[in-house]
Amino acid sequence: MKILFIGDVVGSPGQKMVEQYLPKLKEKHRPDVVIINGENAAGGKGITEAIYRSLLAQGVHAVTLGNHAWDKRDIFEFIDQAKRLIRPANYPPGTPGKGIVYVPTEHGEVAVINLQGRAFLPAIDCPFQKADELIAAASVRTPVIIVDFHAEATSEKQAMGWYLDGRVSAVIGTHTHVQTADHRILPKGTAYITDVGMTGPYDGILGVDREAVLRKFLTGLPVRFDVKEGRSQLNAVLVNIDAKSGRALRIERFIINDDHPYFE
Ligand SMILES: [Fe+2]
Ligand SMILES: [Fe+2]
Repeated sequence: MKILFIGDVVGSPGQKMVEQYLPKLKEKHRPDVVIINGENAAGGKGITEAIYRSLLAQGVHAVTLGNHAWDKRDIFEFIDQAKRLIRPANYPPGTPGKGIVYVPTEHGEVAVINLQGRAFLPAIDCPFQKADELIAAASVRTPVIIVDFHAEATSEKQAMGWYLDGRVSAVIGTHTHVQTADHRILPKGTAYITDVGMTGPYDGILGVDREAVLRKFLTGLPVRFDVKEGRSQLNAVLVNIDAKSGRALRIERFIINDDHPYFE
């Protein structure tokens, strides 16, 4: 079973990259499940129902979120009806939406879980304990479990990878917007990468207009962050999983941009 996971889609440049490259990636790799992190899809902050629906219409099976989940007020209108939209599971009880979704495939179900780290991010419930709880429930239904761990600190992300090794098929990091080169299969069969990277502006700073970010660093004054226009990139990983055992067999990462053209 193949899972294609595309990193944080940022604004319309990110959406355009998905429109341009998802059909090509699907044709080349034939993934059974496509997962996209959409926390920055609407102008860099949050997601709207129209964008969520457009991603599903393009063949995306599940959309994960993160700390920017709540930035567009629209989210509260549709999150409870959006069957394939997943927000970090470790927000306190009573938070709208859900932290786990089951995607049916011809090889059985795939459970997709979204968790958010607590280092350098708002204090929410423990992602490790929430992982235990959700994995106990999901394992009864399927051995194939994918975790999007949306976190800032590499240490917290590595900790989650080792904590879940052998219990889930993949721990895929999101949020930092820069792809790490540490993709591997951990000893008990969990595919791991600290961060899958971002899909959107290539010449900005984490997707944001670099003039604004520079002004902030140089002056310390508050600035408005807009999505950078211009050249774009797409960052993703492809994980190959044994559907019977849930063990990951292979993880491949790719970056598509002007410096790394993936399709000649
Ligand atoms: Fe993000
Ligand atoms: Fe984030």
